[in-house]
Amino acid sequence: MTSIEFDELKAKLQRRLTPLLDSGVQLIMVETIESTNAQLKAQAVTSNQTLLLAREQTAGVGRRGSPWQSPPVGNLYLSYCIHSDRPLNELSLWSLGVTVAVAEALERELSIECKIKWPNDLYLQGMKVGGVLLETASLPSDDVAVVIGVGLNVASHPDPVLLQRPVTCISKHINKLVDLSMVAAAVSSAIVEMCRLSHAALQAWLMSSWSSRDLLLNQPVVVPTLGEGLCIARGLSHDGGLEVEFAGELRTVYAGEVSLGHVETQ
Ligand code: BTN
Repeated sequence: MTSIEFDELKAKLQRRLTPLLDSGVQLIMVETIESTNAQLKAQAVTSNQTLLLAREQTAGVGRRGSPWQSPPVGNLYLSYCIHSDRPLNELSLWSLGVTVAVAEALERELSIECKIKWPNDLYLQGMKVGGVLLETASLPSDDVAVVIGVGLNVASHPDPVLLQRPVTCISKHINKLVDLSMVAAAVSSAIVEMCRLSHAALQAWLMSSWSSRDLLLNQPVVVPTLGEGLCIARGLSHDGGLEVEFAGELRTVYAGEVSLGHVETQ
């Protein structure tokens, strides 16, 4: 994507996001940045309700500290910062909520079927297309700044051989070019709307919308903290964990505990 195309994207996105911007959200678009998440964390105090979108990231970050390759090829690198007074146990559902919200937005806009690999990976036909990284930064008040990062392979994807895992992009999946401003607007609106849900509404929505997209449902997973033996994923728990069946019992495990057979990277 050239700088000129990026300028056009800016104008289109401003138009598409008018209702959101009128409701108090600020949109910042930059050509190049180390990481949109890192930037919003660094300026968290002044970034309430800020969406930051970059054409490229030179040090994009994925979950578990892995790099997120972010060349200027027409993919989505977006972060949203919001100040919140919700307790941490409520916020822990947000990263799952954003993941479902993005999957739903893609399905709605593009008529595709988007699956989720717990907790935060977005998949098309068994190949990773994007992911969500939620981080927090402390504020001088009792509130916390929540920074929600979304990376989506829209026009291009990294080399699956180098990544050693199946990976795809939306354009390849639907076999045509995708309007990045449409994807960026749909994803931005979905994130902001999810953040405005009450905890009870989020919980109810997650429980009803998760299982039809759950890529791990009834699949074997490795949970080193449970020791050796077969674990079968059985869906989402009410507090956002992964329910697994192990030695005939249902147990709930959390993000740090589950290894899905490989290290999570892009
Ligand atoms: C994952 O590992 O699956 C999550 C990837 C999240 C990448 C996005 S791109 C925008 C934002 N800025 C970052 O540095 N990371 C997130």
